[in-house]
Amino acid sequence: MPKGTLAAYLDFAPREESFRDVALAGLMRHRKSVPCRFLYDARGSELFERICELPEYYVTRAETALLAERAGEIAARIGPRARLIEFGSGASTKVRLLLDALDRPSSYVPIDISGNMLHSAASAIAADFPALEVIAVCADYMDPLRLPTLVRSTRDRRVGFFPGSTIGNLMPEEAVRFLRGCRELIGPGGAMIVGADLKKDPAALHAAYNDAAGVTAQFTLNILARMNRELGADFNLKRFAHEAFYNEEAGRIEIYVESLMDQLVTISGECIAFTAGERVHVEYSYKFTVDEFRRLAARAGFKPLDCWTDAENRFSVHYLVA
Ligand code: AVJ
Repeated sequence: MPKGTLAAYLDFAPREESFRDVALAGLMRHRKSVPCRFLYDARGSELFERICELPEYYVTRAETALLAERAGEIAARIGPRARLIEFGSGASTKVRLLLDALDRPSSYVPIDISGNMLHSAASAIAADFPALEVIAVCADYMDPLRLPTLVRSTRDRRVGFFPGSTIGNLMPEEAVRFLRGCRELIGPGGAMIVGADLKKDPAALHAAYNDAAGVTAQFTLNILARMNRELGADFNLKRFAHEAFYNEEAGRIEIYVESLMDQLVTISGECIAFTAGERVHVEYSYKFTVDEFRRLAARAGFKPLDCWTDAENRFSVHYLVA
């Protein structure tokens, strides 16, 4: 294998899930919903990048600063010659902070469902870290136990990386199930590094999902625009609105598309009725206290070892051992 190139690219052929079938099924239910993973087409990913730059959206900045500041400590916890496995690696940006700090990491295994981005991001890492074996896996990481055996076949210590507070998009039971799958994948002696957004002043949370520039609103409404583009739907975006609020009791941000009037929309040949004020659920974003997150990890069989938080207590990075 020439140094600086991908050691392997495994196309685990993530079953092309039908946006049409999933969206229609969600919109035909009594309580309408479309899963948040459909927010991220090319346009949605571009809008999310812009969200990360917004003054109100602290999440990405807080986590990146925290990882940069604590990379040395995290690397010391991980130890030498580890295999780093990233779940949902995207552009592989944050992982560079860890790779720079780690002691001779043996391999990096980015897992992502979006093949094009995975290939270019993994190739760039391979070029920048010539001593690192990079094994890119195109797969649905939500199902860790169905990943190719190559992911676990190493005697090196396996450490999972799941940044970005993506864990907050899962219902708590789903998060526990996912972490259990990760624990089996990394095996005894392995570890997980997970980024989780912290509970904080509800006004700050509200602002982070209701930015003044309206980028988050565009991001939410893009799910309708995507149905127009891909499913020949006829949503009039002016007749719908983004709605996001903090549900304090449930400890989560809830994001909906709200219909501003009674209306009929055709989606891929099916006619769907919306009443004025009716909501379509698109995303939950759970927020945790340090202890709440530790209890969740414990339910998945992990021992919470470390937790790093930023000075303003906005974000947390947990180190969990299997
Ligand atoms: C990418 C899931 C971490 O929940 O904060 C941002 C997604 N949605 N603004 C989050 C999101 C609206 C984001 N995550």
